[in-house]
Amino acid sequence: MLKIAVCVSGGGTNLQAIIDAIESGKIKDTKIEFVFSNNKNAYALTRAENKGIKTISLSKKDIPEVKAYDEKMTEIFKSTGIDLIVLAGFLHNLSPEFTRAFKNRIINIHPSLIPSFCGKGFYGLHVHEGVLNRGVKVTGATVHMVDEGIDTGRILMQKAVCVDEGDTPEVLQKRVMEQAEWVILPETINKIASGEIKIGE
Ligand code: GRF
Repeated sequence: MLKIAVCVSGGGTNLQAIIDAIESGKIKDTKIEFVFSNNKNAYALTRAENKGIKTISLSKKDIPEVKAYDEKMTEIFKSTGIDLIVLAGFLHNLSPEFTRAFKNRIINIHPSLIPSFCGKGFYGLHVHEGVLNRGVKVTGATVHMVDEGIDTGRILMQKAVCVDEGDTPEVLQKRVMEQAEWVILPETINKIASGEIKIGE
């Protein structure tokens, strides 16, 4: 059984896609041990609670000092014995110590085809604004391993999505979520659970 923790900061639609995929059997042999957020008001936490999944939130207001926050976060995760950490709309830059402690055991969903429109400043709607401003005709989403950089880890899965005439950032974001993110994140987790994608090495 693959034991996972999902880290969230916002609406949690990617978390919901994982929950639904486990329930439907699209993701096999996997259990969400807990959902972690840096935002205690994140609706993603409500989604978890609705399914009886344990939630842990650690607000920056509780521990404003970055090093102390990251040490507490590392302590929490180390005490749980999970196999895989899934960043699903988690708006917090992990410390190098944390990524080293869980080397090749953290994956992230990014709403573009890396290496395009990623890195510092490219998160949420800013990604789709960049896509529309550049005028590319194809975008998509990427699941990648998390290393000490921003969106720089090994690419595990990608899915392309067409950019349509007249798209707004909001319309494009929704299409990328529906057609790409909510598909490849569960698929990647299932491949890790089956051993087809190796982690922790
Ligand atoms: C998604 O667009 C995801 O690609 C990005 O942040 C957003 C999170 O959405 N990392 P949600 O919280 O999963 O609905």
